[in-house]
Amino acid sequence: MENYSLPIFSCWFILFILYCREPIPITAQAGEEPEFDYIEGSPKGPQHWGELKPEWAECKDGRSQSPIDILNKNVKIASNTGDLRLNYKASNATVKNTGFSIEVAWEGDAGSIHIDGKDYPLQQCHWHSPSEHLINGKRYELELHMAHIDATNKISVAHAQFYQIGEPDSFLSKFTEEIKSLVKKKEERAKGVIDPRDSNMEAVKYYKYNGSQTFPPCAEGITWIINEKYAKNNARPVQALNDREVFRYC
Ligand SMILES: *[C@@H]1O[C@H](CO)[C@@H](O)[C@H](O)[C@H]1NC(C)=O
Ligand SMILES: *[C@@H]1O[C@H](CO)[C@@H](O)[C@H](O)[C@H]1NC(C)=O
Repeated sequence: MENYSLPIFSCWFILFILYCREPIPITAQAGEEPEFDYIEGSPKGPQHWGELKPEWAECKDGRSQSPIDILNKNVKIASNTGDLRLNYKASNATVKNTGFSIEVAWEGDAGSIHIDGKDYPLQQCHWHSPSEHLINGKRYELELHMAHIDATNKISVAHAQFYQIGEPDSFLSKFTEEIKSLVKKKEERAKGVIDPRDSNMEAVKYYKYNGSQTFPPCAEGITWIINEKYAKNNARPVQALNDREVFRYC
């Protein structure tokens, strides 16, 4: 079964590699220069994000940056089971090329994530290939981010899940047509009702730490929840842990 499904996922994988590894030629519209890129050694690459604009200084000065490599030896076992709960519901969505990724943005009420005693509405999700976070030095083929906002409309809780080749993803497959048509156009397409529960996000075993956006302006104050499932480059290089703690919840 797994072998049979491999080519399906491989096409997706290749499409994302093509899309995400070459941000300049693929995402820029005629005459439009991207403000940053993911290319190592590029003047607009991750090593220089913090120097490109004063308001992006956090990319180099921040002490709680994301992504990180989650190393077992640094992880503390949480003293409680945690209160993570997903309360998602179906809502109308649009699929957008943001210039750096393909994003599914919900309009209206798509439900929320509950963590640390509060509910944060679901705003959008997008994919990174390869994964941005590492678990014990291992990078995965694909990482889904579900982004949730607080009352000031800022992303404040990001929930990540990894994918491996060999496991075709039915949620990603829903957006085949849109991704094909949007891959070279910074546009959006109405998609009708999308149920975020179809993403199969889980809230069972996860790591939690305080981090940042993984792209400029690299704003901190984001609670990252990283699903442990599978834990055995539009990707930002991993950042120093500094004095932060990562907790593991089961
Ligand atoms: C989605 O949009 C359509 C058309 O505007 C509307 O009739 C429908 O109620 C919406 N569905 C949901 C779940 O919001
Ligand atoms: C994360 O940040 C919050 C708010 O600043 C703080 O209360 C909490 O202790 C931090 N958690 C960790 C694990 O460092």
